[in-house]
Amino acid sequence: MQALVTQVPTLTGGAWRYLTPITPVHEAMSRHLILQAADSARAAMPVTVDPRDARASHALVIGAGRCREIPLRELLERFDRVTVTDIDPDTLQRGLDETKLTPEERRRVEVIIGDIVGVSEHLVRGIEACFAEGVWTLSACEHLVERMASFIESLEPNPAAMQPPYDLVVASCVLSQLHLASVNRVSRQFSQRFPETVKLDKQPRWRQAVCRLASRMQARFIDLVHDLVSDNGRLYLAATPRVHLIFRAPQGRWKTRETRDMLAHRHLHDFLDDRFVIEAQSQWQWSQPLPADPKKPGDLFDVEAMVLRKSRRESCRVGDFNRAEAF
Ligand SMILES: C[S@@+](CC[C@H](N)C(=O)[O-])C[C@H]1O[C@@H](n2cnc3c(N)ncnc32)[C@H](O)[C@@H]1O
Repeated sequence: MQALVTQVPTLTGGAWRYLTPITPVHEAMSRHLILQAADSARAAMPVTVDPRDARASHALVIGAGRCREIPLRELLERFDRVTVTDIDPDTLQRGLDETKLTPEERRRVEVIIGDIVGVSEHLVRGIEACFAEGVWTLSACEHLVERMASFIESLEPNPAAMQPPYDLVVASCVLSQLHLASVNRVSRQFSQRFPETVKLDKQPRWRQAVCRLASRMQARFIDLVHDLVSDNGRLYLAATPRVHLIFRAPQGRWKTRETRDMLAHRHLHDFLDDRFVIEAQSQWQWSQPLPADPKKPGDLFDVEAMVLRKSRRESCRVGDFNRAEAF
C-alpha cells in the first residue's frame, strides 16, 4: 500500500514489542468475505416470474487496483456485469491483465477511471492556481503553505454520477487511501519548487488541513457507498485503521514500537450509523514484505472487514466528524 503522508504516531517509542511473523491470510480472507457478500446479495435479489422483467445483476468494485484480493472471475460467475473503478489506470490495467479473463468475461467488465469521491481534479487545479499566484521565494514559503492549506480546507468531495443501484458494492482497503494519490501529487509539485530542506508533508499547517480533507472524504465515501448499493444489496467494506512499523528481530521474529492511525475513526464500525446492518465481520493482519535493509521498517496493517446491508428504516447519518488532528 502507498506510504501515508498524514500519519501522526499514536504510540511511539517505549519498549519494543516482539511479534511472531503472521501467516498471510489477507487475500484469502478478503476473497472469502467478498464472495459471502456476493452470495447474500444474489440470494436477496427479487425473483421475477417473467425472466424478461429481470434486470441485469450488477456488482461494483471500488479501488479494484491490482485485484489481488478481489475474486473478479467468481464475481463474473455471479453477476451479469461487474464495474471496476480506480484512480490509477495503470494499476487497474495490470490487475485486469493478471486476472486473465476470457473475452466473454472481459466484455462484461466495465472500467471507470477517476477519483470516486471527486476531489482529485479540483485539488490539483486549485493548488496549481496557488503556485501561479506569485513567484514563491523560500522566504515566502510559509505564506504559500498557508494559501494551499486554506484552499484544501475549502474543498468538499463531489462524487461523479455513477449508475446505481448495484447489487454488490466492494470497497476493500480504499477508505484510508482516498486522498493519497492527489495529495502526494501536490507534494511532488511542491518539492520541484523548493529545495529538499522544505518538505510539504512536514509542515504542521498542511498536515492538519490534509487530515481534515481526508476525514471529509472518508465521511462522504461512506454516504456514497450507502447510496450506490441497492435496497436488497450487500456492501463489502474493509479498511486498515492502523499500521504498525515493524523491523526484523533475532530468531526470525519481528519487533515494533510505533503504531500509526490511518483513519478519522479508531474502528471501521465507528463510521457506521443505523443506515447499515452488519451481517458478518472479521479482522486480521496484513503485512507487506519486509525491506531487506534491517534499519528500514515494513508495514503491518490491522484489517477490519464487514459484510453490510441497508437497514430497512430511514435514519440519520453520522455527523460531520472532524477528528482531523488525531490521525
Ligand atoms: C490498497 S489498494 C486496494 C487493493 C486492491 N483492491 C487489490 O485487490 O489489490 C487501494 C486502491 O484504491 C485506489 N484508490 C485510492 N484512492 C482512490 C480514489 N480516491 N478513487 C478511486 N480509487 C482510489 C488505489 O489506486 C488502489 O488501487
